Amino acid sequence: MKVAPSILTCDFAHLAEEIKKMEMSGADMLHLDVMDGVFVPNLSFGPPVIEKIRAVTELPLDVHLMMEQPAPLLDAFAAAGADSLNLHLECASPLKPALEKIRALGRRSALTLKPGTPAEAVFPYLELIDMVLVMTVEPGFGGQQFMADMLPKAAALRAEIDRRRLPVVLQVDGGINRCTAPLAAKAGADIAVAGSALLTDPDPRDFVDSLHALG
Ligand code: DX5
Ligand code: ZN
Repeated sequence: MKVAPSILTCDFAHLAEEIKKMEMSGADMLHLDVMDGVFVPNLSFGPPVIEKIRAVTELPLDVHLMMEQPAPLLDAFAAAGADSLNLHLECASPLKPALEKIRALGRRSALTLKPGTPAEAVFPYLELIDMVLVMTVEPGFGGQQFMADMLPKAAALRAEIDRRRLPVVLQVDGGINRCTAPLAAKAGADIAVAGSALLTDPDPRDFVDSLHALG
């Protein structure tokens, strides 16, 4: 399984150093949580900060847009250096044109499902996306507890992706640690987003290695 550290619980006053630590841990990409204070009850950062992050790392930037209206900002996120743009299925922007635009911008497109959204809701969009993200916590905050009842949803998505032989990558996000990552891998997740557990681990390199070793 690949590992995408979330910078949400980083020390933002020393972001470049925090990102270096993530690189040293062997992370495969960075997961950047954008929050608008409307779609979720929290605010984080936007394109100007992503542009600065782009300048200090070669890691791919996977941008998780927890926004009610992401469509008007897709150009700005692409210009800032995002490699993949991940919309919530529950957002208010029309999904099909937004996903087509992301691909037209030369970026990877993705859809995210909140815990209350069933797997089947994303089935009509699977041809339009490169990744699907199953939230294993309610979006908005790092450091929450993994919702094990999301595992059947991840498994259902894995089965549908495989049945249709689509090249869609399956991600999980929220509450991933050394104990919950193996459960997500067993359900068929290809990428684990890890925030607080990785940041507080005494041996981040070993944390990432142990997730890499999962099938
Ligand atoms: C939650 C974010 C997650 C979060 C993960 O809204 O989407 O990416 O940062 O953090 P942990 O791993 O601490 O649950
Ligand atoms: Zn996220």
